[in-house]
Amino acid sequence: MNRRYFLHYSAVTAAYLFSGCEERSGRDKNRPLPSSSSSPIPNASIAEAMTEKIMPFTRKLKVPNEIDFSQVKKAAFSAQKGQVNIFPDAPTEVLTFQGDLPNPTIRVKKGELFDLGFTNKLSEKTIIHWHGLIVPEKMDGHPKDAIATGETKHYHYRVNQSAGTFWYHTHPHGRTGKEIYHGLSGFYIIEDETERQLGLPNGEFELPLVIQDRRFDEKRQLFYKDPDVPQDNNGVMGDVILVNATPLPYHEVKTGKYRLRILNGSSVRTYRLAFDTIETFTLIGTDAGLLEEPEEVKSIIISVAERVDIIVDFKDQKIGDRVTLRTLGFKEASNLTLHPDYPPFSAQMDIMQFHVTENFGDTHIVPEKLIDIPRMKVSDAVRTRTITMEIIAGGIWTLDKKPFSLHRVDQRVKLGTTEIWELKNSVHMAHPFHMHGVRFQVLDRDGKISFPTDKGWKDTVIVMPFETVRIIVHFTMPGVFLYHCHILEHEDHSMMANLLVE
Ligand code: C2O
Ligand code: CU
Ligand code: CU
Repeated sequence: MNRRYFLHYSAVTAAYLFSGCEERSGRDKNRPLPSSSSSPIPNASIAEAMTEKIMPFTRKLKVPNEIDFSQVKKAAFSAQKGQVNIFPDAPTEVLTFQGDLPNPTIRVKKGELFDLGFTNKLSEKTIIHWHGLIVPEKMDGHPKDAIATGETKHYHYRVNQSAGTFWYHTHPHGRTGKEIYHGLSGFYIIEDETERQLGLPNGEFELPLVIQDRRFDEKRQLFYKDPDVPQDNNGVMGDVILVNATPLPYHEVKTGKYRLRILNGSSVRTYRLAFDTIETFTLIGTDAGLLEEPEEVKSIIISVAERVDIIVDFKDQKIGDRVTLRTLGFKEASNLTLHPDYPPFSAQMDIMQFHVTENFGDTHIVPEKLIDIPRMKVSDAVRTRTITMEIIAGGIWTLDKKPFSLHRVDQRVKLGTTEIWELKNSVHMAHPFHMHGVRFQVLDRDGKISFPTDKGWKDTVIVMPFETVRIIVHFTMPGVFLYHCHILEHEDHSMMANLLVE
């Protein structure tokens, strides 16, 4: 029986997913390569080799430590190898910024200075990028500014944008996917006075959750691309879902409202998030800030690098109840088969569980009005640019058919102007399109699915297969910045370009 595909990745079956892949290290090199067509019968050898059972929802969620720039004036990171206990029976080799995973959450108030020394202790060049922050070119973390082994880069800038859930990750040329996969990312939260006055749940009622699907071998080690499977260049999918570096964790909650700041830190997988026994929850924010008004949803789609800020209310739960956060699968993202041994886009998978342990007289009210989002108008735009998403000969993912070149400037924009960017996807796969150095608004999309996240400030937007999405962008920061697909294997494989704002 083809176990992997018969599974619905539910709580019961997930227990079987944590074994190593016995077959992996000794994988038969003569094994026929899986075909690139969308064969419904995947190779089940890895699944068949699953032996050990590890129960889901038995490990506590790790809440990252915080570096709060209201309290510290300076921080230090170094990209380095480390070992963490993702599984109880053997340590896993990872990459970290301060020796452990999850990496710390950075918290900064609007107006404060950010100051961090970053040392590269890896064997290759790297650089940290602050995803979603609008900072000077030299502070942004473009791969052209990567530092060599042993060097230290000093980041120093004032945070000048409104509250939101951002993140940081390394961004070396051609190796971003591999480094994030092994651990080099974390949360970056900006707070401001407007948000504080809304009285949203905070402290223990506010949780950052990064969701990442990963693959492990029989020795509990991460493995990234499969050299035998060229489809991994279309995106690396895993069968083990980590939340804050823990597989299928649980978290104890009280019968009140929680603010969950969720980041999709995966390589390629898009999730459609929902709770099993709580029908609706409230979307309050997107990538780069709060929405104007909260929006009640039953599920929410989050593609790679996007963030959703939600409020979930446990008030109707009883002590002892368990609420599971899951993905319902998102087959619309692609009909391509990626690695045939791993759950496809359509897979339903559990993510984590909330254990209700205490009654709580919650007094939080989510205000009906959150912030003002001044709408940019089509008439504000000085021009429209079209960017196409395509795959060219050799299976290379590109923007405008041009593989990325580190120093080539692909677009020149006038500082202080507003433009419409028309993002045209000409392939059978959704792409999360990201721009550095700006935040933007979505004007419209010509596809069938509507995304409530389109209403907020964005820095990453999903463009569905064969869809055209129009965004409107105001350029306030001079310099060279990247724009790219945020499927990590696509950006590493050339689906990236440079923009000069002057
Ligand atoms: Cu998450 Cu080039 O960015
Ligand atoms: Cu970015
Ligand atoms: Cu892509």
